[in-house]
Amino acid sequence: MGTTLAWGRQYVMVRPDHFRVEYRINPFMDLADQPDPVRAREQWEDLVEAIRSLGGDVDALGQREDAPDMVYAMNLGLGIVRPDGRRHVVMSHMRHPQRRMETSTAQPWFAGHGSTTSYVGREGVGAHFEAGDAFAFGDALVVGYGPRTEELALKHLAVDLGVRVRGLRITHPGMYHLDLAFCPLDETRALVCPAAFDDESAEALMALVPEPIVLTEEEALTTFAANSIVIGRTVVMPACPDRVRAELEAAGFEIRIVDVSEFHKGGGSIRCLTNPVDVRLGRDLPRVEGGAVVVPPMGLPLAG
Ligand code: ARG
Repeated sequence: MGTTLAWGRQYVMVRPDHFRVEYRINPFMDLADQPDPVRAREQWEDLVEAIRSLGGDVDALGQREDAPDMVYAMNLGLGIVRPDGRRHVVMSHMRHPQRRMETSTAQPWFAGHGSTTSYVGREGVGAHFEAGDAFAFGDALVVGYGPRTEELALKHLAVDLGVRVRGLRITHPGMYHLDLAFCPLDETRALVCPAAFDDESAEALMALVPEPIVLTEEEALTTFAANSIVIGRTVVMPACPDRVRAELEAAGFEIRIVDVSEFHKGGGSIRCLTNPVDVRLGRDLPRVEGGAVVVPPMGLPLAG
């Protein structure tokens, strides 16, 4: 059994007070298929309840009325805990202007809840970065780029955070964030959907994860199975194909299904609704040779 993830017990979420499909910035969004607000609220509460029952913490902020996608809290920013225990959030700089105002509400919220904050770009100037594209795994911060995050953001993240960044080029329009195709499960395992990436990046990701559990393109797109979260040895999933369930159970995981289907209408699922803020980066980074695109670590202490 791989060592349990050291993070994934503290989440920030956004209450779905104004969730609707108002524009189309991903292939799942259809203005003719609106979420039911009551069902959405119930599903969101069920998810909070599931996380708490597994020993996780949830802190929630309210949704801006003019930001219908703000419920996808994963994209507010990349939260990390520095080696000295202080918290920091790299704020997202959304690709699509329809979501950019979320940052101006999230930044003061994080600052008021004990985090320093920084930007790789803001208000349309500088590199785009959406936090649903970034995960700590192994020796590095793994960052998807292409549809949303720009490659330039990876350099900023490496320098600003003083960590190794491994970039993966996303080419699939339906897996526009890394969290739709990649889910760290423990220190050696992850759910991986290679179909999201160009050949080189798919290979690099398969090489990076010692024990990948592979999802087909169809599984990833129709079940959102990669868009799951892990609390200890429990994987909280929107759905789980039988074969994947068998592999997860053989690896010592339990599966908890939580229906968040109303949120699939906006193109997001469980991971998108939750933002883990207890990720530690930069501990004991071993050297890594070859494989993925690697921006060498600068070893700088975090600013701020
Ligand atoms: N409608 C949202 C968007 O396109 C969905 C975000 C999903 N979130 C995620 N972390 N993948 O931005």
